[in-house]
Amino acid sequence: MKTPKNHILVIFGASGDLTYRKLVPAVYDLYDKNMLPKNFAVLGLGRTELSDNQFRRKMEEGIEKFALNNTGSALKSKIDTFLQKLYYYAFNTKEEQEYAGFKDKLLALDKELGTENNFIFYLATPPSMYTTIPCHLARQGLNNEDEGYSRLVVEKPFGYDLESAQQLNESLFRNFRERQIYRIDHYLGKETVQNLLVTRFSNTIYEPLWNRNYVSRVEITSAESIGVGSRGGYYEGSGALRDMVQNHLLLLASLVAMEPPALIDSNSIRNEIVKVLQSLRTIKEEDVAKQVIRGQYINSTVKGKKVKGYRQEEGVDPESRTETYVAIKFFIDNMRWGGVPFYIRTGKMLPTRVTEVVIHFKPTPHHLFSSHATIAQQQNQLVIRIQPDEGLLLKFGMKVPGAGFNAQNVNMDFHYTDLADVYLPSAYERLLQDCMLGDSTLYSRGDAVEAAWKFVKPIQDAWKNNKDIKVHGYPAGTWGPDVADELIEGSDLTWRYPCKNLANDDKYCEL
Ligand code: BG6
Repeated sequence: MKTPKNHILVIFGASGDLTYRKLVPAVYDLYDKNMLPKNFAVLGLGRTELSDNQFRRKMEEGIEKFALNNTGSALKSKIDTFLQKLYYYAFNTKEEQEYAGFKDKLLALDKELGTENNFIFYLATPPSMYTTIPCHLARQGLNNEDEGYSRLVVEKPFGYDLESAQQLNESLFRNFRERQIYRIDHYLGKETVQNLLVTRFSNTIYEPLWNRNYVSRVEITSAESIGVGSRGGYYEGSGALRDMVQNHLLLLASLVAMEPPALIDSNSIRNEIVKVLQSLRTIKEEDVAKQVIRGQYINSTVKGKKVKGYRQEEGVDPESRTETYVAIKFFIDNMRWGGVPFYIRTGKMLPTRVTEVVIHFKPTPHHLFSSHATIAQQQNQLVIRIQPDEGLLLKFGMKVPGAGFNAQNVNMDFHYTDLADVYLPSAYERLLQDCMLGDSTLYSRGDAVEAAWKFVKPIQDAWKNNKDIKVHGYPAGTWGPDVADELIEGSDLTWRYPCKNLANDDKYCEL
């Protein structure tokens, strides 16, 4: 296992939630597994005045709550030693003149700890700071790589629309090169998302069928059972299209659809991803109402409890038209996928939390066995479960025992939990480790982000320009607007309505 070079991880926005819940716990998990270099520090930055000690106490709490490796008898002393690697410096990151003081602090720490001028700058701040901070860093020469490396990690959202994403890229490129920029999409950090590539490209049985000749449609669902909670203010200006589709879902679609890369390296894989995104057929503004369904959850009773509608959530306009659900039908215009519909949907306050990809194979050309079965029943399906109950499920026809030749779909399933002693790192742990190693394979490249925004643009425009396009209300705790089923081509066909457990169907379903 490679160990990263000595370095300092500088976190902008260190007094925020992301640092507390995700970043520092993930760094601790790396430390726990001896994956950090000998000389290493986290330097937290923020406007809130905190001493090193106060920062350490707060992070200790975060580690205890959110780190994965937070059990065991040696824990307390291990956390204590780790906490000594955390430092904090308060300053106003908006003000250019304050950066000289920050630079002095950083270089003094670098000298003291022997971190060899290698710095990762992680922007865990509101997006409005994504242009300001890199610019001020560059004025101090901190983008320079003459003596060590300088990397910049940018959290989502990367832009608000195509134009702002282009402007953000341009602004970053003024001072940093593409290879220094790490745009995070935490879905790529998920083991099961990476496994999509392994499933496809390390087995001979799937790849020959993975195309328009054998696949009738592809379905991707990312459902959440929670609402917007305390994030109403952010979500109101975002909506499901920006929050989930432009990034996570289009990325999943790209991994399902991409060609095999020449090599497993950053450029080869990212080249293939971008090719898919550039091949997405533009949905014309006038077709948006037909191909895109949006919805918003309304108050309801879920499992006996009354739950608020979106418009009653804190920070939300009582007349809001922001979508908390979106379903899209689209096509990928290339040789492999020409004519195959792709369906993606995501929503908040749906019956269960589940993310999965379903490959629906075409039925056999001649239906020998099941004259009464519906088309759906005659189709093989491969379900790739991203979360929870991570695994794979293949549905195929078997003979019903007894007289005659009747076929019935049965399940063959694999669950990650069956791999005993396998530790699934958190997405942030994996991604931070990669950035420390200088591997950007699992980060989004600038051209891919722009291509995804380009696809989303006519949908945004249509919703802005045509107020007649409906926002369907759906009761919290249901699968979203009924009309979403009408998107699916073919009589009798609907979305798959998954349960929490991968292989549960036609039976008791735990939500
Ligand atoms: C984030 C979105 O990017 O992804 C959230 O901003 C969403 O709204 C989250 O809840 C979902 O991530 P996961 O890993 O829980 O599927």
